[in-house]
Amino acid sequence: MLTNWQITPGLGSELDAGLQLIELGDGDLHELKQLAAERGVVVARSQVMSLEQQAAFAHRLGEPLTSPANKAGVPPELLIIKADETSKHAAGEGWHSDVSSEAEPPGLSMLRMQEVPQSGGDTLFANMYAAYDSLSPALQAFTATLTARHDPLGHYLYLSGAATLAELPSSIHPVVRIHPQTGRKALYVNVGFVSRIMELSRRESTALLQLLYDHVAYSANIQCRVSWQPGTVVFWDNRCVQHFAAFDYFPQRRLGYRATIRGEKPIAVK
Ligand code: SIN
Repeated sequence: MLTNWQITPGLGSELDAGLQLIELGDGDLHELKQLAAERGVVVARSQVMSLEQQAAFAHRLGEPLTSPANKAGVPPELLIIKADETSKHAAGEGWHSDVSSEAEPPGLSMLRMQEVPQSGGDTLFANMYAAYDSLSPALQAFTATLTARHDPLGHYLYLSGAATLAELPSSIHPVVRIHPQTGRKALYVNVGFVSRIMELSRRESTALLQLLYDHVAYSANIQCRVSWQPGTVVFWDNRCVQHFAAFDYFPQRRLGYRATIRGEKPIAVK
């Protein structure tokens, strides 16, 4: 039984201190995935794990996406998340769901932080079940009939092995998806990847997307924030949360490694 406490009543759980992820059995792992599906975000502190152990753990979660252009010594299952004194931007600086342009976009992401700035560098999360539930019934019903095109706009091209964004896939997904583990409805459009809503004119699409993005960004009551320490590992379920990496620590350094686990084709509302 994984004991944990809630970060906010609606979003995020932190596992009790003392637990080492790499020692978990299959039953605990199943519980971890279910907790992530229900709570959106799961935090584990003080984890001792090498790059190879994190890559092996990622395989226990499912099929990791790979970064074939990683520098030597970093397993292809891990994406390097790094910003330092030379960085103009940081990865994930804007609300998004990881690589939603994939045909089977990620379910879980697992980010392990190795180096942190003296302060700052938090990650913000927003609950997409609550984003959907807090729309008016008329807008809930309308958005559930729509699909959106996700282009690889926010893709980390330099790590993908592709030469141009055009080589990477685009996909059309429902604007509201059903989470396969919880059966709950979640809003599934994000500013990092979505280019348009298919059933609407360009002008209508732009206006509705802006409304939905503002709803996510300005609804502080559906968000939580995680502060990192070296050894913190955070799992988030991209099917039901978006996240935003605050880049408020320049020119300090922040370094972590993310495993991104393939999900399934998003399930539309019938
Ligand atoms: C990301 O995966 O988008 C980056 C998250 C972070 O660096 O906190």
